[in-house]
Amino acid sequence: MPHFLIPLLLASTYAGVPYYNIEKEIKMKDGKSLHGSNKLSFNSTAIYTLLILLSFYIGYFYAASSSSSSTADNNDNNLPDSPLATTTATATAMTLPAELDNFRASPNCAANPLPTRQIRQTLIDRVYGGTSPFSDFPPPHVAGSLRHKCLKGWGSTTPVFRHLLEEVRPEVIIEVGTFLGASTVHMAKLARELGLDDTVILCIDDFRGWAGFREEFPFIKQVNGAVTLLYQFMQNAVYTNVTDSVLPLPFSAGSTLSVLCEWGVTADLIEIDAGHEFTSIWSDLNRAYRLLRPGGVMFGHDYFLVGDRRSVRRAVHLFAQMYGHTVQIDGQHWVLRTS
Ligand SMILES: C[S@@+](CC[C@H](N)C(=O)[O-])C[C@H]1O[C@@H](n2cnc3c(N)ncnc32)[C@H](O)[C@@H]1O
Repeated sequence: MPHFLIPLLLASTYAGVPYYNIEKEIKMKDGKSLHGSNKLSFNSTAIYTLLILLSFYIGYFYAASSSSSSTADNNDNNLPDSPLATTTATATAMTLPAELDNFRASPNCAANPLPTRQIRQTLIDRVYGGTSPFSDFPPPHVAGSLRHKCLKGWGSTTPVFRHLLEEVRPEVIIEVGTFLGASTVHMAKLARELGLDDTVILCIDDFRGWAGFREEFPFIKQVNGAVTLLYQFMQNAVYTNVTDSVLPLPFSAGSTLSVLCEWGVTADLIEIDAGHEFTSIWSDLNRAYRLLRPGGVMFGHDYFLVGDRRSVRRAVHLFAQMYGHTVQIDGQHWVLRTS
């Protein structure tokens, strides 16, 4: 029922009933006490007024609460019909409290970006002392613990990846949160298919998983308490023949993004899919944004996640408001285009 009809319906219901009763009362009391009928009419008028006011209040609160709950339903349950659907969720840049400036990341970024062709080798030099981590892989002490191929992820091959690779045709992709590399391998194959032979994918992940991870993924072995996630990711990259384009950066997301900025690394496309708590994703968004080339795109999974009071959505929308961008949805991913 349209919300604006609710107060009218309630008001008319109340209005009809008392008038009927008044007439009955007057007939019953007619001739006995004029004073009584006046008293009755005064009380009834007051009651009508109160009831009508009450009905407007009830109608107003009902309308307000049902419209906010239907918004939540849309967000959580009514996912876009097709993963191809792209809808605008927020379009306005708002004036936000100046205190929020304290929460912007301010890494000490290089004045000049590294040329794209130097990025991969520069990182191999600075992070790995000049030798690719894929040289002499796998090391003997973990070789027996690895599967030939073990690619599991969450929405890691959904259409958003193809959409964005076709649109951006990135030379450099940064993935914040790689896990076993399901989305990495998918993007590497897409890049090849699109003729982007020189595209580099930098994979930032501490490759530690999370507490409780062992129970969900018991087949990823531990060696003296250290999970072999990094090695299984690398084994997946070897098996799928994408080692030329991907490079793991096995450290915490925040510090790595800051260091990349100091070293002048920039990217056309950045996927944010590491920690999903508000503070994690907020930190990653802010730091990653500093690495984004003009016109670049950031995107990430789990826009509809409900946990931590919808942490992903809260962080992404606040961030978009702060920088005047629009949040768009593609399947279960959010997308921020800066052009
Ligand atoms: C959801 S998984 C990534 C999935 C991957 N993008 C895919 O689609 O297959 C999240 C990953 O983020 C990593 N991670 C979580 N918090 C992190 C942090 N603060 N620094 C680095 N890595 C982190 C975890 O180790 C985990 O591998």
